[in-house]
Formats: sequence, C-alpha cells, structure tokens
Amino acid sequence: MAEHPAYPVGLRLTGRRVVVLGGGQVAGRRLPALIAAGADILLVSPRATPSVEAMADAGEITWERRPYAEGDLADAWYALIATSDPEANTQASAEAEANRVWCVRSDNADAATAWTPATGHSEGVTVAVLTSRAEGRDPRHTAAIRDAVVEGLRDGTLVAPHHRTRTPGVALVGGGPGDPDLITVRGRRLLAEADVVIADRLGPRDLLAELPPHVEVIDAAKIPYGRFMAQEAINNALIEHAKQGKSVVRLKGGDPYVFGRGMEELQALAEAGIPCTVVPGISSSISVPGAAGIPVTHRGVAHEFTVVSGHVAPDDERSLVDWASLAGLTGTLVILMGVDKIGRIAETLVAHGKPADTPVALVQEGTTAAQRRVDATLATVAETVRTQDVKPPAVIVIGEVVTVGVATPASGLPKTPQ
Ligand SMILES: C[S@@+](CC[C@H](N)C(=O)[O-])C[C@H]1O[C@@H](n2cnc3c(N)ncnc32)[C@H](O)[C@@H]1O
Repeated sequence: MAEHPAYPVGLRLTGRRVVVLGGGQVAGRRLPALIAAGADILLVSPRATPSVEAMADAGEITWERRPYAEGDLADAWYALIATSDPEANTQASAEAEANRVWCVRSDNADAATAWTPATGHSEGVTVAVLTSRAEGRDPRHTAAIRDAVVEGLRDGTLVAPHHRTRTPGVALVGGGPGDPDLITVRGRRLLAEADVVIADRLGPRDLLAELPPHVEVIDAAKIPYGRFMAQEAINNALIEHAKQGKSVVRLKGGDPYVFGRGMEELQALAEAGIPCTVVPGISSSISVPGAAGIPVTHRGVAHEFTVVSGHVAPDDERSLVDWASLAGLTGTLVILMGVDKIGRIAETLVAHGKPADTPVALVQEGTTAAQRRVDATLATVAETVRTQDVKPPAVIVIGEVVTVGVATPASGLPKTPQ
C-alpha cells in the first residue's frame, strides 16, 4: 500500500480523557504539554520517574500504579503508549485500533496511528513540525526545523508580521548596553516589525543596519527641536508617527526606566491617547561591570549596590544625590554619566569618610568591541581619567567588588568582550 503523508491536526483536549501507559522518560517529556492542553490524564504504570511522580502528587494527572490491562483505553480520546514492555505496547495498540483511539507509540512509529510533532511556541502560536512519512523519519531534523523557526521568530530574523493583532502605537524598547545579542527577545521582535525606529546613540545600534529598507530610522539626537526641549521634540515625533498609524519603536540604551526618561515618554504618549508598551532592557549599570569581570555584589564583600547618576556635581544645587550618606555605605556604588564629574565625586566621598584607597573601575563602551576597563582608587581616579583619556559612555564602579574578579579560561561560548 502506498504510504500517504500524515495529516496534521491540533487536538483540543480540554477535559477529555488521555491515557498514558508507562511513566518513564517519554511520559515525562510529553505530559507537560498534555497537562497544558487541559487533558484529563490517566497514567497507568507500576513505576514513574520522580518528575512524573511529582505531577501525580500535584494532582495534575491521575496515576494508577499497575501494568496495562485490557479495557484501559475504553474512555480515551487519545493514548500515549510508552511502556518498557513491547508485548503490552502491542496489545494496547490493538485495543486503541479497535476502539478508534488515536495513539502514539514510543517504541514503534510504524505501528502508531498518530505521531507527535516537534513543537515550540512563539507569541501565542504553536509551531509544530511533523515528518511526512514513516520512511526516512528523522526526529532530529524535525526538531532542528522547529528550533530554526521558533528561534527565528523570537529573535526577529524570521519576520512574520501580525496582520490581525498588530495595532499602531509605540513600544519603548530597552535595547541593552550595546552588544546586539543583549536585547530581549521581545524587543528584537518588535524592532523587526516596526515601521519607524527612533534610536538613541547608546544601545544596540548594530541592529539598525539589519532593518529592511522601508523602515524609517531616526536618530533621536538629530531631531530638530526649535522652540521645544530636545525631549519634547522626541515625544512629539513619537506621537506624530504613531498618529499616522505606524508601528513605532523607541529604541533606548539599557533599560528605559534607568536614567532613560522612559516614564516621561510614556506620560506624553498617554496624554496623547497613544497606546504604548514598555519592554525592559538589560541596564548598563549591572551588565557593563559584569562584562568587565566585576560583579556588583559578591558574598562576603558587598551586600548592596547603589546606582547613582553623576551628571551633576555633588555641590550643584540641582543634585538630588545624598553623597554624604553614600560615603557611609559599605556596598558598591555604580555611577552612570559620571566621567566628567568623577574628580569632584571622589573628593566628596573621601571628604565624608570613604577611604581614599577604595578601588574604582571605569568601564568604557561596555559590551561592545571597543570595551575598555581602567582601574584606579578614589585618590587617583581624577588623574587616571585624564591620563588614560577615559571618555563617556562609561560606568564607574566604586568598592571592593572591583578587585574580586578572576581570569576565566575561554569557554568557547559566545560572550561579550572582557
Ligand atoms: C542616559 S544613561 C542611560 C542608561 C541606560 N538607560 C541603562 O539602563 O543602561 C547613559 C549612561 O549609561 C552608561 N552606559 C550606557 N551604556 C553604556 C555602555 N555600553 N558602556 C558604558 N557605559 C554605558 C553611561 O554611564 C552613560 O553615560
């Protein structure tokens, strides 16, 4: 008989009896999806792996601790036959056939009446990849195709625009510290779907080069602001493009709410009645020290870290930072936007009692190919910045954590430069 291709279908199993025979690794792999589908699951097996047992303990499945017996499939809509006894599998398979219950078999795909596809999920869609015929079945290949599709959808390299659900509006996307791999999956997907991208100078600018030609990319720093403040001009640009029915991404460095003016933009959009979503990003305050081998906390060394803006000097009346209190903390101080004022900041901390030999590290352009780390102490940092020509953007770390790093052997895994 000619072998026809399998017919793909999605089973809606909510409240419907599914019988699983065998409580081993196969059941352990398949049960979570059956539970997620809302099936009424009966497991028949003398033994079960600890993870399957945990599902029974949690009340997610009913477990009868015994071998398969004829009649077990009487009420089933669907069966998974996966015992370690080939004879029992054959008998159960015959019962399934007689009762017209679709069944998968772990030991013999040829004898099964259904096959489990390799599945993955992305944004409310299930991607299921099925081999067409028993002959030449290659489960690793189907899994690889599933991975390629799901990964592509997640990271935006495979673009599948949302025609029904996509609404015009703005996404404030935290792009991470600069390495294009350090944006979130959601951020990357929204970027891939955007009509207009308004980008900061910091963040993963390499991603902009990958956008299709129809996408309008606007440099936030270059928006003319005339009688407005620069930020107002950016807000207006976001509102205007969204009002034209476009999908707008505001791509920001790090996290939108860490010295990123994200809430100001959100407020302006809310006032204009524009729908807006905020996508968190990896903040440079943690990731840039980390990329340079500095943990912001370390057991026995620092039990807190404080992230501070250094954009105004300590004696500036606009400063909202209590430098005297910060000098009294024993944990890590992380200063953003502080390169220009680090001399005055260091003096102030020392004047309020922080030891002058407290270690300091400046990490410039962290996570990018140009990353550079320069070490100093509070006593020497001003001079070091001058002589070493440290330039923004840089994250400044003050505290003993600066000295705890170790040189790690190359792992072969992709990672940000150290
Ligand atoms: C306006 S703040 C924005 C911070 C951002 N929202 C975040 O969460 O990382 C800009 C400052 O962040 C720091 N910064 C951002 N990206 C950096 C990077 N790749 N390397 C070093 N410092 C960076 C610098 O201190 C820079 O002056």
